[in-house]
Amino acid sequence: MAVEWKVHTYASLPSTQDYVKELGEEGLEEGIVVQCLQQTKGRGRHGREWVSPLGNLYMSILLRPACEAVDAGQISFVVAVAMARAVKEAVGADVSLTLKWPNDVLINDKKCAGLLIESEVDDGKLSWLALGIGANVLSSPVDEGISIQDVAGDKQVPIHPFRDLVLKHFAEAYEAWQKTGFAPIREEWLENAHGLNQKLKVNIPGHEKEGVFKGIDETGALLLDIDGREEKIYSGEIVMMAAEG
Ligand code: BTN
Repeated sequence: MAVEWKVHTYASLPSTQDYVKELGEEGLEEGIVVQCLQQTKGRGRHGREWVSPLGNLYMSILLRPACEAVDAGQISFVVAVAMARAVKEAVGADVSLTLKWPNDVLINDKKCAGLLIESEVDDGKLSWLALGIGANVLSSPVDEGISIQDVAGDKQVPIHPFRDLVLKHFAEAYEAWQKTGFAPIREEWLENAHGLNQKLKVNIPGHEKEGVFKGIDETGALLLDIDGREEKIYSGEIVMMAAEG
């Protein structure tokens, strides 16, 4: 059955992610969406700050997927695919959008949205999962980023309709994933993958690896060809390398 979203919008919060994690711990049901217009302590991956001025989308969703804890990582690809569909619908299908492993949405090779997934596991089962979405709708707070409005031209991308578009596409993709599994999501993600078959560097805490990006496996792990040997990378940050020649 399709999940029904219950959206709560606040003017300002420290972090929607922290709020939804608390709701998860308190036992609230799946489908609660906490959105705010600005965050004072927005968090990104790896403990980074997520600068959160007015005009952009900040929301966290409480999920309780009926899946093994090991499959929870697939959800970041489910939501990335939903984000791609939403941005294309808001701006136009010809937008140059790519999905960068594991959690970034890029337009014209610049980041326009990021995803943060945090969960609690109990006895090998997923107890709750907090899915945080930060999208530069009106402006990019960092120089190296881009906003959706930057590429929408005269078309306005109002924040609440964009939020609803994301939720609509995510509900569809999430339901499809629960019914048919990861394979179609993986395929759609790969159609949009940033840097497929290109040389890249993966920064893994403590070390880095270089190779050719060959795709993702059935768990979402990155497949890296290192001098003809395939290696699976489960977490890290990718950095594209200039083409040789
Ligand atoms: C990243 O790319 O590093 C992930 C960014 C996630 C930011 C969102 S904004 C809504 C939610 N609340 C937070 O504090 N973080 C996430």
